[in-house]
Amino acid sequence: MNIILLGPPGAGKGTQAKRLEHERGMVQLSTGDMLRAAVKSGTPIGLKAKEVMDAGKLVSDEIVSGIIGERLDMPDTEKGVIFDGYPRTAAQAATLEDLLAQRGRQLDCVIELVVDEEALVERVEGRFTCASCGEGYHDKFKQPKVEGTCDICGGHEFKRRPDDNAETVRTRMAEYRAQTAPILPFYEEKGIVRHVDGMADIDEVGRQIDAILDA
Ligand code: AP5
Ligand code: MG
Repeated sequence: MNIILLGPPGAGKGTQAKRLEHERGMVQLSTGDMLRAAVKSGTPIGLKAKEVMDAGKLVSDEIVSGIIGERLDMPDTEKGVIFDGYPRTAAQAATLEDLLAQRGRQLDCVIELVVDEEALVERVEGRFTCASCGEGYHDKFKQPKVEGTCDICGGHEFKRRPDDNAETVRTRMAEYRAQTAPILPFYEEKGIVRHVDGMADIDEVGRQIDAILDA
């Protein structure tokens, strides 16, 4: 099964995608995570992307679709993927159709996480992740079970994203409204869009997603 998790910054895409990886063996394809890895290793793509990401703007369609195409050629993606943060523009949505068709695959479902924008700044500002395995946490909504220790890998180092400040989040939300939300009708016409209440607590959002995937 191949699905898209769609929603603005802080909607819970990464949180739910990681859970689906752990619980269903699906593969999370987060263009944000891939770009951050490229920035960290200082690759040519990373060097181009860093400034754009720090400003909360969108990286070019060519770069992100190139990364996704390469990733879809890896055999682990055959068992089903969760697109997290991709596609984000009409051009990316069109490219994704081609990338999947070329590989004899298809999109089964687009799950929109419906959220109240005002809550998202708090979510994003309180976010931190394990520096070793990338598991996501929140100062208030999802603390590690043992303070200072990652639930998943036992790591003790955590990090915060440079674009997780109130000002950049506002720009990212504006980009979402202008460029990403408009791709929903394209999928609605195909009859594959489902909605979940992204304002519910993390476990409840997970239950709503599971109900859709098991239907
Ligand atoms: P990306 O990394 O994709 O960031 P984003 O879309 O802004 O989304 P976030 O990762 O901020 O939010 P999320 O929905 O994953 O929330 P999370 O689960 O962590 O992209 C970053 C940048 O890369 C972009 O700005 C752009 O520059 C570039 N980029 C990436 N993809 C691109 C593309 N396709 N095209 C062009 N450019 C691209 O949750 C947030 C926090 O809230 C966490 O702390 C979590 O614990 C908590 N939380 C989650 N769910 C709940 C809940 N239900 N209740 C309470 N707290 C919750
Ligand atoms: Mg994310």
